[in-house]
Amino acid sequence: MSSCRVLARTRTAALLTSRIPVPSPAARSLPRLVRFQSTQSSYENILVSAPKPGVGLITLNRPKALNALSSALFVELNDALKKFEEDKEIGAIVLTGSERAFAAGADIKEMAPLTFSDAYVNNFIAPWSYLTTLRKPVIAAVSGHALGGGCELAMMCDIVYSTKTANFGQPEIKLGTIPGAGGSQRLTAAIGKSKAMELILTGNNFSGEDAEKHGLVAKAFDGGHQEVLQGAIDTAAKIASYSRVAVIAAKEVVNKSQDLGIREGVEYERRIFHSLFGSQDQKIGMKAFAEKKKAEWSHS
Ligand code: CAA
Repeated sequence: MSSCRVLARTRTAALLTSRIPVPSPAARSLPRLVRFQSTQSSYENILVSAPKPGVGLITLNRPKALNALSSALFVELNDALKKFEEDKEIGAIVLTGSERAFAAGADIKEMAPLTFSDAYVNNFIAPWSYLTTLRKPVIAAVSGHALGGGCELAMMCDIVYSTKTANFGQPEIKLGTIPGAGGSQRLTAAIGKSKAMELILTGNNFSGEDAEKHGLVAKAFDGGHQEVLQGAIDTAAKIASYSRVAVIAAKEVVNKSQDLGIREGVEYERRIFHSLFGSQDQKIGMKAFAEKKKAEWSHS
């Protein structure tokens, strides 16, 4: 293993164990990290850091409740996501939990006493969807339990990485309810109707290894939490190294494939492709290729 990789892993471990993450020596010179430090100290359920240039990292941090997704946690998560979305230095976001749990679902203790009108009038869970409105890519790094709302939160992300031993599932049927944060729709879109129906009706869990086989997870890692997290951070850094304009456009057209038929989707893609000839980065990227140089993106 290279010394760079060891340093990056050590840095990641330090970020995860400290409430106020400690930037690396190299990163300390970046004023923007100081800005993050001043905001994150007010969070109680998440940790926020920038482990590599261009990468925003959010770590769910309610260890005593296995990162159960409470309303208070979502207020903080959405605030942190909004800050990363607005931060010009950030090109991609990683969302993770702990070795033991990405998230064990919606907070059952908070949810148990709700009445129909509480849930309906206050549109319970609707704020969870904020993540899906982001234009920057979000990568989930899943270890341990990703159950119910935890599985649904991972599926809201653009790319899901997990450990092979991660424990996915939609166990709501065992609680006398059903998935409420998109599980029935996104799981079905990801793995097909018959398999999704089986999993949702039985509440059976499935491993990260199986999730990769079924196409829910892009890559299932052999190692533990540090390996999957490092993999997600490395991918996020790679994405962040490209033109922000092209990355946003690429995410947009892939997402359109979920809503449009193939012919309309291909036409939509072509229109966006045409529009990128109006960006500076298309000129920069193609000129750099012809000159055998590294592209220096303007992000415009
Ligand atoms: N909500 C609230 N608290 C939770 C929780 C949840 N979803 N999951 C775990 N916890 C709490 C436990 O109550 C326990 O707290 P105490 O120590 O105060 O008792 C603590 O986290 C540790 O949990 P366990 O002792 O149960 O740990 P375990 O290792 O024995 O089991 C587990 C782990 C299998 C994940 C088990 O905790 C479990 O089954 N959790 C619930 C999973 C679930 O049903 N999720 C779906 C929720 S509904 C939903 O998400 C709806 C939706 O679609 C939005």
